[in-house]
Amino acid sequence: MSSGLKPIIGERIAQAVSPLGSAALTEESLRAHIAPLFSRVRQRSEIYLSNHSLGRPLDLLADDVREALDAWYTDMDGAWDVWLKEMTTFRHNIACLIGLNRADAVVPKISAGQGLRAVMNAMPQEKPRVIATRGEFDSIDFILKTYHARARASVGWVETRDQPGRPPEVDAGAILDAIRSGSPDLVVVSHICYATGQRLDRVEEIINAAQAKGALVVLDAFHSAGVIPVDFEGLGPDFAIGGSYKYTRGGPGAAWLAIHPRHLDNPRLRTLDTGWFAKRDTFGFERPDEPLFADGGDAWLEATPAPLPLFQARSGLQLVLALGVERLRRYSLEQLGALRDVLKNHDIESYQGGRTPDQSGAFLLIPRADAHPACGALKQAGVNVDARLGHLRLCPDVVTTRAEMERAGAIIARVLAGR
Ligand SMILES: Cc1ncc(COP(=O)(O)O)c(C=O)c1O
Repeated sequence: MSSGLKPIIGERIAQAVSPLGSAALTEESLRAHIAPLFSRVRQRSEIYLSNHSLGRPLDLLADDVREALDAWYTDMDGAWDVWLKEMTTFRHNIACLIGLNRADAVVPKISAGQGLRAVMNAMPQEKPRVIATRGEFDSIDFILKTYHARARASVGWVETRDQPGRPPEVDAGAILDAIRSGSPDLVVVSHICYATGQRLDRVEEIINAAQAKGALVVLDAFHSAGVIPVDFEGLGPDFAIGGSYKYTRGGPGAAWLAIHPRHLDNPRLRTLDTGWFAKRDTFGFERPDEPLFADGGDAWLEATPAPLPLFQARSGLQLVLALGVERLRRYSLEQLGALRDVLKNHDIESYQGGRTPDQSGAFLLIPRADAHPACGALKQAGVNVDARLGHLRLCPDVVTTRAEMERAGAIIARVLAGR
C-alpha cells in the first residue's frame, strides 16, 4: 500500500510537470518541460553521470533557500513560523515518498548515520546484538564498528559472496541464516547496495525473520527512496533511514529517520538522542523531573532543528513526487539500457548490480581495477562519474540526453583504452 497522503507540490513545479500529464517520460517531453528547471547546472560543460552520488539541483533551490533567509532578515524570530512549517512539509513529503500514512513518522536528521544512531540509542539492551552486512555504506559501517569497539553493541557481519567477474553480492540467504541461527536485537540492511546497486533479494522475508526473532530492523533506503517505489508500511521494517542529496536533489543536511507507525505510540521505544523539540510542550518551558515526551513521532525529534537544509530539499523532492517514482523508474531503466548499448558499441562491458535490471538500482557499473585513477582521468576529459570497489559508477538523470550518453561513451572508450 502506498501513502494515502497527497504530496505538497508548489506552483512552479506543478506548472512545469502538468503538460506531461500521466504519459510516460520521454527525452522530448523532459527537454521541453523539465530541463528548463535546471538552467544553471546545464551551463556546465561536462557530462554529469554522478547523480547517484550528488543529484543535480534545480534553479528553484536557490530561491527556496533565499526564502528561508529572507524570512529571517525581515521577521527575525518570526521566521520560526516559516521554518517550522517547512519542517512539517518536509516530513509530509518524505512520508509520501516512502509509503507512510503519517507525516510525524518522519524525523528530520542531518545524515542517515544520525538516524541510525537514534535507533542504536533507543535499543533497550545495554549491548544489543546487531546483524549487518558487509555491503552497508561506510557511514553505517563505521558507526556500527564504533559501537562494537566501545562495547555498546555486539555486531555480527554477514559477508558478501564473491562472484566471478562481478562485484561481490549481498547474499540474502546468508542474512537469513545469520538471523535464524542467532538472537539478534537489531538487523541493519540496505534496500539497494551503495557500491553495486544490487537490490536486496527477499527483503520482506528478511524483515519477517528478524521480527520473528524479536529483533528490530533498520532498512537503509538511501539508494531506493526516489528510485523505486518504496512501501515502508507494507514492507514493514521498524525503521528506515535515507537522505536527500542523491535522487531527490536536495543537497546534504536533509536526511531522515522513518519510524514504522506501529511504534509511534509506544512510550517504551524512545531514543536518548533527544532535546527540547521532543518535549510534550516545547514552548511551555516547563521542566518537570520526569521527561515528558510529545505524542507520536514528535517524541523522536531532538534539539533545535536546522531549517535551511529543508528548504534546500524542497524543490527536488517535489519534482520527484510530481513526476512520480514509478514513471521515473521506467525512464531510468530505459536510460540505463541505452547507456549500456552505447558502451557495448565501444566494446565496454557494463552492468547493473542485481541479476536483472529490475533487481538493481539507478546506476551502471564498469569493472576497472584502476577505477579511482580512471575516474580522475574521465573527469578531466569531461565525463563526471565516480568509483567504488573496483568499479566506475554511472547514473544519468532526467536531464541527461541521449546525445550526451553517446558522447560520454566515446570519451570513456578513448580514456579507458589509453590507460
Ligand atoms: C546506502 C547509503 N546509506 C547512507 C549514506 C549516507 O550516510 P550519511 O548520511 O550518514 O553520511 C549513503 C551515501 O552514499 C549511502 O549510499
